[in-house]
Amino acid sequence: MKQEIKPAAGRLGIMVVGLGGAVSTTLIAGVLAARKGLAKPIGSITQMAAMRLENNEEKLIKDIVPLAKLDDIVFGGWDIFADNTYDAAMYAEVLKEKDLKPVKDEMEAIKPIAAAFDHNWAKRLNGVHVKQPATRWELMEQLRQDIRDFKATNNLDRVSVLWAASTEIYIPMSEEHMSLDAFEAAMKADNKEVISPSMCYAYAAIAEGAPFIMGAPNLCVDIPAMWEFAKKMRVPISGKDFKSGQTMMKTVLAPMFKTRMLGVHGWFSTNILGNRDGEVLDDPDNFKTKEVSKLSVIENIFEPEKYPDLYGDVYHKVRINYYPPRKDNKEAWDNIDIFGWMGYPMEIKVNFLCRDSILAAPIALDLVLFSDLAQRADMYGIQTWLSFFCKSPMHDMEHEPDHDLFQQWRMIKETIRTMIGQKAPSYLD
Ligand SMILES: NC(=O)c1ccc[n+]([C@@H]2O[C@H](COP(=O)([O-])OP(=O)(O)OC[C@H]3O[C@@H](n4cnc5c(N)ncnc54)[C@H](O)[C@@H]3O)[C@@H](O)[C@H]2O)c1
Repeated sequence: MKQEIKPAAGRLGIMVVGLGGAVSTTLIAGVLAARKGLAKPIGSITQMAAMRLENNEEKLIKDIVPLAKLDDIVFGGWDIFADNTYDAAMYAEVLKEKDLKPVKDEMEAIKPIAAAFDHNWAKRLNGVHVKQPATRWELMEQLRQDIRDFKATNNLDRVSVLWAASTEIYIPMSEEHMSLDAFEAAMKADNKEVISPSMCYAYAAIAEGAPFIMGAPNLCVDIPAMWEFAKKMRVPISGKDFKSGQTMMKTVLAPMFKTRMLGVHGWFSTNILGNRDGEVLDDPDNFKTKEVSKLSVIENIFEPEKYPDLYGDVYHKVRINYYPPRKDNKEAWDNIDIFGWMGYPMEIKVNFLCRDSILAAPIALDLVLFSDLAQRADMYGIQTWLSFFCKSPMHDMEHEPDHDLFQQWRMIKETIRTMIGQKAPSYLD
């Protein structure tokens, strides 16, 4: 049955946590440039991808469902440094000055609000543009006020909040995360050990009816308390961790081995990168969060319990090395030891010289625009159909994530078809 979807009327505010980061500034510059016809939104599903409809006709997704237009987006957000987004983009050195110049005035006008920050959650960072609240609860209240002010000042119809800030330290789920009551009590008791700054942003967004997207691997919205709150407030939440480079390759290669019934002995993945993200991840506690996210992929795709002869003993290792000269131009190597007929071994080497933020920016845009669509279609709670964009797709306790990129792409198409009341066209899809 067709879903009621409210039109994308008025302006959409995108409040980015980590407004001055590499991903955020690349996203903002790209959207502003695309608006002026100076760049194409390459890599964006919402802007460029088409899909087949029931009658076999192919149409652009943005012509099938009512997505917010790039022209209607207003950027804002928070950062621990006060630089405007033009200066921050120059510092990040992802984009060249010649590509930033045409959008300089607009980017200079986009300045961060003081951040919700706690040094203990990102030890390599020293925030200078930060709020000084008495408790986590008060911190969250200040963030709510920021969202309300931003909406009013810019005359916005809707707001989405996107976390594109640094990865926080790893923490396991605890009692305080298991229910909304326990979570709110911990915020009020100012339990700084279990309530991270990112959780304060997420809670504030949901409380203000704004979809929340987690672009890092932080625990944050991936806890029962937040699922409960998102359902209560009828707000979509999604994440975690943009699936931009090496993991994207993994979630394409692993299904290929499995479809061909080829075995895997080991998979060693290593990276060098030299941006601030790399610096933060150089701390073992922050790296642990990323490692857990990156490691989860293979086992889920291979299903070793079903195919013990092929995947019963896969040695999987992931490394990230901070190497400043590389800046945002990450280099990733994968060595995959596979085996075939009669157990004969073979090796595959992948060397991906990528640009992290160039890959992540369109993912961030798509997550925001699809989350805004979900909100208008009254789809709330965890948006599993957005797994395509995430290294570590969110799921509740009863479900398993799906990591296969092509299954995930199918989930997007199926969701869009359900929204407009259509079935898959044929086996061709
Ligand atoms: N670039 C990619 O391909 C990619 C892929 C997956 C995930 N990610 C994740 O996205 C995030 C952003 O990546 P990046 O390369 O832009 O990093 P970055 O270090 O360039 O940007 C992060 C920004 O967040 C700010 N920040 C840190 N803590 C904050 C807080 N509590 N509140 C507000 N601002 C805060 C920092 O000052 C910085 O400006 C990281 O967590 C990274 O792990 C990036």
